[in-house]
Amino acid sequence: MVSGGGTNLQALIDCQKEKGLGGGEIVAVISNRKAAYALERAANAGIPGYYVGGKGLDNDEYSRKLDELLESEVKPDLIVLAGFLRIFSEEFSNKYAGKIINIHPSLIPSFCGDGMYGLRVHEAALAKGVKVSGATVHFVSAGTDEGPIILQKSAEVKAGDTPEELQKRIMVECEWKLLPQAVTLFCEGRLSIENGIVNIKD
Ligand code: GAR
Repeated sequence: MVSGGGTNLQALIDCQKEKGLGGGEIVAVISNRKAAYALERAANAGIPGYYVGGKGLDNDEYSRKLDELLESEVKPDLIVLAGFLRIFSEEFSNKYAGKIINIHPSLIPSFCGDGMYGLRVHEAALAKGVKVSGATVHFVSAGTDEGPIILQKSAEVKAGDTPEELQKRIMVECEWKLLPQAVTLFCEGRLSIENGIVNIKD
């Protein structure tokens, strides 16, 4: 699922082509924005793309609309939020518990939660003056960015960084590696959750 440029989606597409995703296959790309470039990336890769608009819908209504498509057509084993910037209802998050993963551009629990997405995350990190930041892939639960952490990777914050520069470094050094890695681990059946903690089998 995507909302924007889709560079994380591209990393998944490239990994599927080059090394495989642990036997997983990207069967659909769903966007809540019609103009998302990510939909073009999907089309270029021959992956069915869907626009599920959410204008005027609250999170419950949007989640129900989305679930209709998932149930009737897509039938996914795993839902990957690759820069998807809407929040799901509690009901939806519970229904797909352990089957939705998200990438967030900071080291959770720093700079996350409601309203923290995209460049805002990097602006907050720079405003705090942290010297390292990074990215986190986690399972989605009802609380925003609160689900069990799968993988994290850090990147240096350099003096004078702009939010855009920090965002790019974190994408290149962390996000585009972590997300394919986490999807691969899931598809290989190597992830389990016990008491809110993710275990990774060798
Ligand atoms: C990525 O940096 C991703 O981590 C972030 O949005 C960007 C999407 O870029 N996601 C969040 O902030 C979620 N809270 P992309 O469309 O090029 O993959």
